[in-house]
This record gives sequence, structure tokens and C-alpha cells, in this order.
Amino acid sequence: MNFLASLLILLGTFSVISTRGLREEFTWSRISYDWPAGTPPRFGGGEISFPRGRYDRTTGRTTTRRSSTSRPTGSTTSRPDTNDAYYIYQNNIPMGANVWNEKLFITVPRRRVGVPSTLNYIWVNSSQHHNVPLKPYPDWESNSLEARGDKFVSVYRVAVDGCDRLWFVDTGRIETPGNPDQVQPIALVIMDLKTDRVLQRHVFNSSVLRSGTSLASVTVDVEDDKCGDAFAYIPDLGGFGLIVYSLREDRAWRLNHNYFSFEPVAGEFMVGGHRFQWNDGIFSIALSDLKSDGHRDAYFHSMAGFNQYRVSTRVLRNETLSTRSYHDTDFEHVGSRGPLSQTSSSDLHKTHGILFLGLVNQNALACWNIATPLSDISIVHKNDETMIYPSDVKVSGDTIVLLTNTMPVFLYGTLDYDRTNFRVWVESVDTAIRGTKCDKSRRSKS
Ligand SMILES: *[C@@H]1O[C@H](CO)[C@@H](O)[C@H](O)[C@H]1NC(C)=O
Ligand SMILES: *[C@@H]1O[C@H](CO)[C@@H](O)[C@H](O)[C@H]1NC(C)=O
Ligand SMILES: *[C@@H]1O[C@H](CO)[C@@H](O)[C@H](O)[C@H]1NC(C)=O
Repeated sequence: MNFLASLLILLGTFSVISTRGLREEFTWSRISYDWPAGTPPRFGGGEISFPRGRYDRTTGRTTTRRSSTSRPTGSTTSRPDTNDAYYIYQNNIPMGANVWNEKLFITVPRRRVGVPSTLNYIWVNSSQHHNVPLKPYPDWESNSLEARGDKFVSVYRVAVDGCDRLWFVDTGRIETPGNPDQVQPIALVIMDLKTDRVLQRHVFNSSVLRSGTSLASVTVDVEDDKCGDAFAYIPDLGGFGLIVYSLREDRAWRLNHNYFSFEPVAGEFMVGGHRFQWNDGIFSIALSDLKSDGHRDAYFHSMAGFNQYRVSTRVLRNETLSTRSYHDTDFEHVGSRGPLSQTSSSDLHKTHGILFLGLVNQNALACWNIATPLSDISIVHKNDETMIYPSDVKVSGDTIVLLTNTMPVFLYGTLDYDRTNFRVWVESVDTAIRGTKCDKSRRSKS
């Protein structure tokens, strides 16, 4: 452990009362990559190809206009969307973060050209904490658009299950504005984290997709001793539906409900000095612990929405039940979280029953103990400068992991790539909720 880490732990121990909220663990002003100069990937030839660019592993140089070694100076206003560069740092916006053992996964969806690798990781034990270069996972070849066969084109967020597997949707699409390119069909990919191999690649049948489909997250429902009996729940935020995937059957189906839609009065956002209107529907699924009936509750919400809903996995796992045209009382309206409570990602700490929510319109992370009224929702951490756009929220063991990426400023303004824009925040759940209503209700429960 390095000196700084020890110091942080010491400080944490001595200032118990003021240690509310999360710590900035890794930060980036711009995203760069661990270019493969020293460790040649398993290619036949002497170079790795990227779209319109070539990397020569013997010289460590690229023949594109912008290479990894170019260091444009000053803040920049240009975001070239030309097709002649494989790495344009201005277009590399991390959207997802998750942890497995010593690996911290960071995803960079290909929303523009110039993203050399979409699925990446860094070492949690890295001695560096600012601008750590991302390493493609499992390697460059899997993330290269010119590789033969299936490759990873664009990944938003990843799930890690208790069976050492990584799950994600590859949208297969380069979303260059005005000129999207569907490179591959949309697929769910499951990888073995111990061997770094793809276990399953399920290409979605068009019958579960819609023209506006956007699959940006996945939640895995599995018990650690029943790894073969896993289900994945994939919200379709643009098509207002939910896709359920059964691993045992290697089959997916789609269900619809009015609760998956956006709420027209909740679409107004004011973030980072920019006003905009969004209409994203169902955005993420968070699962409770097993209940006495052997099933979990799946908590969900729309991004453009104030309301919280839930449905039992007893319903979701059963195709007949989940796709019936009249859902009766299967889906419950838990309540309204209140004004400005629009939420991106959410995840649940199962043993304590605490739901964490990324509050986009408040630059904050909130918590709610699901055993208490929804009005007990509390702010865990809020910062109008450093916590802009909580893009991913994950609970990994007893640790909360939050990625903020300042995305509205990227979309509607200009990011200053000499300032810190992207942050991975972490904290133990117990420390993070100290002093909030989530903490009090937990104590009284036990
Ligand atoms: C971090 O952990 C990984 C995996 O255990 C190891 O390969 C690597 O050398 C470690 N790095 C540092 C800086 O300790
Ligand atoms: C895909 O869906 C269509 C119905 O839209 C169905 O006829 C077909 O059998 C499905 N294909 C697979 C492989 O499930
Ligand atoms: C699925 O739900 C239907 C309708 O309630 C029920 O008849 C059937 O037994 C369920 N299937 C399973 C496997 O539980």
C-alpha cells in the first residue's frame, strides 16, 4: 500500500463524523489507453489495424493524424467527427464502471468515432490515481473494429455476477451523429472473468427489439450456487420495454408496461449550466435480496421520471406471466421520489436493503432503505462541480462504486480536457450512508 493510501485510511479513522459521502478514487481529465507497444497482442502480422488507422507494434507508432502520443495543448473546442482517426481523446467519454477482484472495468461506448477500445479496465491497486491509461479487456484484438469475427463494438455498462462472470450488451453500433453505423447485430455477451473467455454470445432476435431500442445496462439475477440458472434483465430506455434473458434456455423475450415509459412532466434537466429535455424511459433495474417466497423485488424507474416502481422476479422469470397483455397488480407503484429526482443508474446493497440512486438533476448520489417510506430518501453526496452526471452506480460487495462523467457539458457545451472531467468514486456502504436516514433505519431494524 502506498503512502497516500495509508494516509487516507488514517484520516478516515480520525474524522469519523465528517467522512460522509464518497471518495474520489480515480480521476481523469482525458481518457488515454495503454497502447500495446510493449506487449504485442496475438496477431499474425506486425500491426494492429484500426478504422482508417494503423498501429505498428515494432515502432509503437501510428499512421493516423492523431496518435496516442499527440498532445494537443490547451482546452479544445473541436470534436472532429471525421473518419480518419482511431483515437480522438475528445470523443472518449467513460459511461460505466464496475469491479471484479483487482480489476476496475471502465466502458467507453462508441458514441463517436475515435474510440479505440470500448471495454477496458485498470488495476484497482494502481499506484497512479489520475489519468491512468485504460487497458482493453480482454485485449486489443477483441475491441478492434477490424478484427475478424465478433468484436466488441460499443458497451455502455457491465454487470459482474457472483459466479465470476461479466455481462454486457454490445450495441454493435457506432453512433456517429447523423451517420450511425450498425457494425454488428445487438448482442448480450457473457464472459468468464477467470479465463477472460466469452462463454455466451446471444444475438437478439429482431422480435425483442424496436426501432428506438437503446440497451445501456444489464442486471443479473442469479444465486451463487445456481450459476446455470441465471436471468438477465435489460431495460430498453428508448423503446420503453424490458428484455428478459434466460441463460439456461439461451432465449430472450420482451415485456411491455406503461411504467417503462418516460413521464412527460419530468423531462426537463438543468445540469452543469445547460438546460435540455430528455425522454429516456426505464433506465436501470436493481434487485433486492431473496424474499421468503424465493424471489427478489426488481426496483426500476425511468430516467425522465420521478416515480419508483417494483415487480417481483417471480413475474419477470416466467415468460407467460411477464408477457401477458393485462398485468393486473404484478407491477407496483412504490411512490414518487419528489422533484428533481430524475435518476440514471441505481443499484441495491442487498444485505442492508439500501437502494443507491444517481440523481442527474442534483449532481448527487442518494440512498433509500427499501424497508422505509420513500420519503426517507437521503442525499449521500452532492457536488455541483465534481459530481456532474452520475452515469453508473454499482454496489460491489459492501462497496459503492460511482462513475461521474460531466456528460451534459460534453453534449451541449465544451469540456475542458485540462480539468478533471471523469471520476470513479468509492466508499464502503456503511461509511457512505453514515448520518443519512438510510443509516438510522438500518440500526433500528437490527
Ligand atoms: C495489481 O494486481 C495485479 C493482479 O493481482 C498484479 O498483476 C499487478 O502487478 C498489481 N499491480 C501493482 C501496482 O501492485
Ligand atoms: C425470431 O422472431 C420471429 C418472430 O418475429 C420468429 O418467427 C423466429 O422464430 C425467431 N427466431 C429465433 C431464432 O428465435
Ligand atoms: C408461469 O406462470 C403461469 C401463469 O401464472 C403458471 O401457470 C406457470 O405455472 C408458471 N410457470 C412456472 C415455471 O412457474
